[in-house]
Amino acid sequence: MQMKFVKILALPVLLIAIALWFGCAPKKVERVKTAEIADGTVDPAQWGKVYPVEYDLWKKTGEPTPAGKSRYKRGYDEGEARPDKLDEFPFLALLYNGWAFGTEYKEPRGHFFMVQDQLEVDPGRIKAGGSCLTCKTPYAPVLQKQMGRDYFAKPYTEVHEKIPDEHQTLGVSCIDCHNNRDMSLKISRGFTLGKALETIGVEERKLTQQDMRTLVCAQCHVTYSITKDAQMKSTDVFFPWEGGTMGNITIENIIKKLRSNPPSREWTQSVTGFRLAFIRHPEFELFSNNSVHWNAGVACSDCHMPYTKVGSQKVSDHRVMSPLKNDLKACQQCHAESPEWLRNQVFAIQDRTMSLFIRSGYATATVAKLFEMANRAETGGKRIDRTLYDQAKNHYEEAFYRVIYIGAENSVGFHNPTEAMRILGDAASQAGKAEGLLRQALAKAGIAVPVKVDLELAKYVNNRGAKKLMFKPEHEIKDPLATR
Ligand code: HEC
Ligand code: HEC
Ligand code: HEC
Ligand code: HEC
Repeated sequence: MQMKFVKILALPVLLIAIALWFGCAPKKVERVKTAEIADGTVDPAQWGKVYPVEYDLWKKTGEPTPAGKSRYKRGYDEGEARPDKLDEFPFLALLYNGWAFGTEYKEPRGHFFMVQDQLEVDPGRIKAGGSCLTCKTPYAPVLQKQMGRDYFAKPYTEVHEKIPDEHQTLGVSCIDCHNNRDMSLKISRGFTLGKALETIGVEERKLTQQDMRTLVCAQCHVTYSITKDAQMKSTDVFFPWEGGTMGNITIENIIKKLRSNPPSREWTQSVTGFRLAFIRHPEFELFSNNSVHWNAGVACSDCHMPYTKVGSQKVSDHRVMSPLKNDLKACQQCHAESPEWLRNQVFAIQDRTMSLFIRSGYATATVAKLFEMANRAETGGKRIDRTLYDQAKNHYEEAFYRVIYIGAENSVGFHNPTEAMRILGDAASQAGKAEGLLRQALAKAGIAVPVKVDLELAKYVNNRGAKKLMFKPEHEIKDPLATR
């Protein structure tokens, strides 16, 4: 009895003592606002009753973003059709042919839409089951706890139906990032990010506030495999970080982990026939790997949730979006340069990245077509040199994962310009090696290969998926640095 009483009193007494110590004790004790949010409250409107300003800004992620400000990220710009990466980069349609990422793969838009977008996308994209909800619904941690392994494997619709009706399209919410009792930042996805941090030797309790301003985002803006069992049923959402450390999760290590882990091979690439792994939005990994801003202690939230004034209140801008669309206000917290200068810096970095991304992407797609040729020749009875073929395959996979790493990373190089260029340079060189070896193997088998390989892109960009999507040439992004 006595003990319990002491515990209940301890916190308020401590707070009052601290307040008195700093000489700021109010005459009348104000209501502690945070106590009004009951444990387990998901509904953002309830949190919004206590924090109306942050709630209103959070809701704005459902509004279209201003057009004409970002060069490459136009996920949901006012008055514009939302581009699909497969139209922007036709070589990706070739590389992803064989599964749903090759049918519809839209550019991201505001947080408000994350579940809605899954309900609208080609149904193949949610075939992995409940796993797909992990980075989307605030109910994911609860559902995973309740359902265990079934959560990952059961059909998407079956798991989705367990979300209360009124929240079936609700995306990332207050409870995903905040502790309701004191509004501190928290990691709500222990079953994914929590586990992954352990594998790189990070103790959660030692994380600083500034670390958390990045890690709340790293709950979702990371790469992962939806691992498969022998029946191709999903078993987990797994971050390939083992062997890395905080601040040094390299592409080399990720590829090594993916290639040595058979359950990560989620799909079969139709052009080559290879079982491959996949890479998704590695914003955290690219940014935290020794970038200038990471090394300077800058967090995701510094650039995507800058402080802003609403009336007399200074708050974090919960309308999370591209800093370009916010006229570089975030950058000006630290940089004295003009918005024009900053914008040009971003564009210069992105143009270089984009140029090399497109070139290494086409080089990799060319190799895929040479494999198709070699496979056909073999089926037709020709003998293809195994050693050359296997060496080429090794280089090809190394190129492929690097290209899709930068293709899936959403900053077009800005988060870590030098690292992005290094990765793409390596991709181009690996693709070049693979092409040389394959040409050698094909020549040895007596097959003539034209200097310019026909990629037959029309085959891959048209009639995509259940919606039979057709190529939209107006969305294609051409090499911005190509010499005309
Ligand atoms: C629960 C998972 C989750 C968390 C946590 C999360 N995001 Fe996102 N984020 C997403 C998804 C999913 C999308 C794409 C939504 C879509 O297109 O439907 C997205 C989109 C974005 C976009 C693009 C917005 C636009 O207007 O195009 C930005 C920028 C972004 N997130 C930054 C962040 C930052 C910064 C944090 C941390 C403060 C964060 N996110 C936390 C899942 C998450
Ligand atoms: C130093 C500032 C800075 C930091 C730190 C930063 N970003 Fe970004 N981010 C940018 C810029 C600039 C872009 C490019 C936006 C554009 O092209 O419109 C971007 C783009 C993005 C996008 C795509 C936006 C869109 O509209 O589609 C996402 C998602 C994103 N960042 C997430 C993150 C996450 C997660 C972190 C932390 C791991 C992070 N960012 C750290 C500046 C930053
Ligand atoms: C994607 C993660 C994320 C989500 C979702 C989110 N917040 Fe935050 N919130 C942050 C971050 C990051 C900060 C800055 C924390 C810091 O530096 O101390 C913050 C700060 C705050 C603060 C402190 C004052 C301020 O503005 O800096 C309040 C209050 C708050 N959020 C309320 C909310 C409410 C209410 C919701 C839901 C409607 C919400 N947040 C959703 C990440 C999030
Ligand atoms: C929280 C502080 C902070 C924010 C916010 C921030 N930066 Fe920086 N930025 C730095 C620091 C610190 C450096 C590194 C050292 C220096 O300037 O001497 C840096 C470096 C840079 C560089 C040089 C990078 C290089 O590779 O040498 C560019 C360009 C840049 N920032 C652009 C931006 C843009 C654009 C934004 C907004 C999207 C932004 N920064 C937001 C602190 C910040």
